[in-house]
Parts: sequence; structure tokens; C-alpha cells
Amino acid sequence: MTDEYRHVPVMLDEVLEQLDPQPGETVCDCTLGGAGHSVELARRVAPDGLSLGIDQDDMALDAASQRFEREVPGAEHRFLKGNFGSLDQLLLEAEVPGVDCFLFDLYHEDAPLDMRMDPGNNTLTALEVINHYNETDLTRILRIYGDERHAARIARQVVRRREKAPIETTLQLVEAIKAGIPAADRRHGGHPARKTFQALRIEVNHELDVLEEGLRAAIRWANPGGRICVISYHSLEDRIVKHIFTELSQGCTCPPDLPVCVCGNVPIVNVRTRKPLRAGEREVRDNPRARSALMRVAVKLDVAGTPTNAGGPRG
Ligand SMILES: C[S@@+](CC[C@H](N)C(=O)[O-])C[C@H]1O[C@@H](n2cnc3c(N)ncnc32)[C@H](O)[C@@H]1O
Repeated sequence: MTDEYRHVPVMLDEVLEQLDPQPGETVCDCTLGGAGHSVELARRVAPDGLSLGIDQDDMALDAASQRFEREVPGAEHRFLKGNFGSLDQLLLEAEVPGVDCFLFDLYHEDAPLDMRMDPGNNTLTALEVINHYNETDLTRILRIYGDERHAARIARQVVRRREKAPIETTLQLVEAIKAGIPAADRRHGGHPARKTFQALRIEVNHELDVLEEGLRAAIRWANPGGRICVISYHSLEDRIVKHIFTELSQGCTCPPDLPVCVCGNVPIVNVRTRKPLRAGEREVRDNPRARSALMRVAVKLDVAGTPTNAGGPRG
């Protein structure tokens, strides 16, 4: 297993407590990675349970398969390659009627964008953003997705430089970013390009849309009483989770002076976490990835007439 897939699972105790997987249940880890969470979930649904694992990365799927063979041999599992934004299709493929526990662990490595070496991946789209978005849009994504204080100055540098020649390499982009950040601020807060790279990654992968689609699908597919747990590491992601859980936990939204309900809204989930759960002090000390983790959990209600399985689940 490569180092990348050997990291310690974040908030494992809390995941197990909140999802509380029972023997015979079906669990679905939508961000399988190295299966750090999934092997423990698999142990708890044994002997007759089913573990589903989704990842878009072949190396993660290989690492997870090896770990399952080594640590939970014989545990029934189906690993599916794909993006959890297409959860509906993936679960139809897996031919399961419903799921009892869903987990999303949204941690992203701070991987550098390699604009020269990886043209088949997201490089082209990152290049498009850098060379074609107007200054206002560039500023917006750097500020909102990157939380970059110097978004406007960096965007101005990018536009000024690309007017002379297209920005084609990471090095050229890093130079533009550095030129947009005052020297005093460049000396602290990690690599000066980190926030801009994060913003580009979120933009080109449509990460926030994908999360919304995946989470809504998970709620549709959850069995009555099913638990849905999301660990996010970015306030924008956490806000999306909070909004979806809140929206789907509300019942009738008709004005109080209407004699009968005309909206027909019924609560779909019960939210377990009004405020996100955080990792404990010791875990944060031992595992720096846990520092920014924000966990939210909801339970699917038994909504009469709401199908939870294949063939058009509704939420
Ligand atoms: C933080 S790792 C998961 C670690 C895992 N929970 C563990 O403890 O070993 C996140 C994984 O999710 C995958 N991933 C991220 N976004 C995804 C998406 N939209 N669809 C499918 N997989 C995704 C990444 O490829 C990565 O392997």
C-alpha cells in the first residue's frame, strides 16, 4: 500500500458510534480511500453484512482491496469505481435495495497542480480557468473557494501576465500568485500558492455540486433508520451538508394562517448534530488531518410512501 493510502482514519470512534453498524447491515463508504474506516465498518456488519466502497481513484481501490483481503478476509464487499456525484447509477449497478450506513470523508490532499506533466487529468481545465476566466470570476473563485485574502491582486497578476503570453506551467502560475501577495504575507501561512490551488481544484472538479448530488442521493437510498455521516474539512462543504440536512428535516413550510397544508412537505431525516462534531484533543495532537474535521450526522425517517430503493428513489 502506498503511503498516500496508509493514513489514519479521521474520527473513527465517532464514525462507529454515530453510524452504529449492526450485523447484517449494508454500509456504503462513498470515499473509500485506503479503507481505514471501511474495514472497521465491515467488521461490525459481519458475518452477513455487505460493504460497498466507492472511489474515483484506481490506486485507492487497489489499496482498499488488499487491505480487505488482509484484515477482513471473507467479508462480503463490492468496490465501485466512480464519482459519488453519480451515486444513483453506482448503487443501481451494485444492485442493492437500500443502504443502512453512508459515510463521506471529504479530506483532500494538498496535491500540487502539475500543469506540465498531467495533461490527461484536470490540468487542461485548470489551464482554461487560469487563461480564460475574466478577472472578476477569477477573483470570486479564489476568494470563495480558496479563502484567499489577496484574491483580487492575484487575479490581476494572472490577467496581466497572460495578456503577454498564456500561463502554461505551474511555475508560471506560482510566479503570478507570488507577485500578487505582499512579501510580508508570503513569509507565513504555508506555500503561497496553496489557497489558489485549492480554489482551482474545487472549481475544476465541481466539488460542491458533486457533494450536493451525492448527499441527496445517499439520503434517497438510505433505508428507514439509516444513518448518514459526512466529515468535511472546509466551511463551504460543511455549509452544504448543514443546508441539505436542515432542508430535508423540515416538515410543512406553509404559512401558519393556512387552514390546511398545501406544500405537502414531510421531514425526510432527523438531524443528530445541530452543531458539527469535532475530533478530540488527543486525536488532533496525533493526527493533524483531524484538526479541521467537521462531522454531521442525520438519520433517515420512515416516511410512508417514500421508496428507498432502485427504480427511482425520491427524497
Ligand atoms: C480522505 S480519503 C478517504 C480515506 C478513508 N476514509 C480512510 O480512512 O482510509 C478520500 C478518498 O475519496 C476519494 N474521493 C474524493 N472525492 C471523490 C468523489 N467525488 N467521488 C469518488 N471518490 C472521491 C479520493 O480519491 C480519496 O481516495
